[in-house]
Amino acid sequence: MEVKKDLYILGIESSCDETSVSIVKNGTEEISTVISSQIDIHKDFGGVVPEIASRHHVKNITMVLEECLKKAEMQIEEIDAIAITYGPGLIGSLLIGLEAAKTLAFIYNKPLIPVHHIAGHIYANSLVKELKFPLLALVVSGGHTEIIEMKKHFEFKKLGGTLDDAIGECYDKVARVIGLEYPGGPKIDKLATIGKDTYKLPVPLKDDSYNFSFSGLKSAVINLSHNEEQRGNEIRKEDLAKSFQKVSIEAITSKLRKAIIENNIKNVIVAGGVAASQGLRNAMQELTEELSVELSIPPMKYCTDNAAMIAAAGYYAYQDGRLANLELNSKSQDTLK
Ligand code: KG4
Ligand code: ZN
Repeated sequence: MEVKKDLYILGIESSCDETSVSIVKNGTEEISTVISSQIDIHKDFGGVVPEIASRHHVKNITMVLEECLKKAEMQIEEIDAIAITYGPGLIGSLLIGLEAAKTLAFIYNKPLIPVHHIAGHIYANSLVKELKFPLLALVVSGGHTEIIEMKKHFEFKKLGGTLDDAIGECYDKVARVIGLEYPGGPKIDKLATIGKDTYKLPVPLKDDSYNFSFSGLKSAVINLSHNEEQRGNEIRKEDLAKSFQKVSIEAITSKLRKAIIENNIKNVIVAGGVAASQGLRNAMQELTEELSVELSIPPMKYCTDNAAMIAAAGYYAYQDGRLANLELNSKSQDTLK
């Protein structure tokens, strides 16, 4: 009988301000991950500056790759395939990772696996336990807010999404209005734990669709903050954080509840940077317990951008024969596939 060989996938992620390389065995077992974050560099500018981000990826990528192999005590020859985030993201940043991946694939004659960044976030969950289908994935990040239905591996059907801002983008902008440093999401989330829901804010897009809208909520917070300032009142940051978090999470859970019930779903996963929010994690726990649905949320370290999730997704893409040749290009925008 033929013994199934273990598959070691090396993943590379550079779509925004994290340069990361990881080796994952059989799509589930993380061997080693290295992440070089540029948060400290960009926070002085209040957000990611694309040109600066690309330059730092160039500076970091070789070091991060070498460190990852060293930590894993592996040689690149022992790797079975290279998985790379081809998009979406900042084009200059994406290109640095892509060129590194293509160079490795060419020199060492390894298959090249293109991975959509959001597929990576979804598959971060398989580093914890195997995905069970059919499932709903709630994708909440700096660029995405979507409800995706999956009936099998690499089959994504979008049930709904944001009509304007992404939830993470909204967290970051609200944080900026009240004077918190980039990235503001985690700071709002932390402040909310000590605040009270005292500010009245509108719950966004109460309709029959599975869609979201966060720009109105963002404007409401900006107006409220300006009005208080004009009246000479100081904003109670922790209370505003709590009030904002309450309505934004309510907007998400009410649409997700509808999608779970109407599509008779038993498995829900959460994906993307905002999955690190303790407020959202608690709300998801409550919702899925109430509806008797199984919930999977990645541990904090797999929520924000990392290459382990790209290597994990790469494993399932590889099994599905989704390979690219050396003509693969980066895409700043692309539908999830
Ligand atoms: O997935 P991610 O690392 O990058 C994108 O692909 O966009 O997500 C980044 C987003 C940022 O908007 C950040 O503020 C938000 O995730 N975020 C959080 C938390 N940690 C990160 N938002 C709320 N609470 C958190 N704890
Ligand atoms: Zn991301």
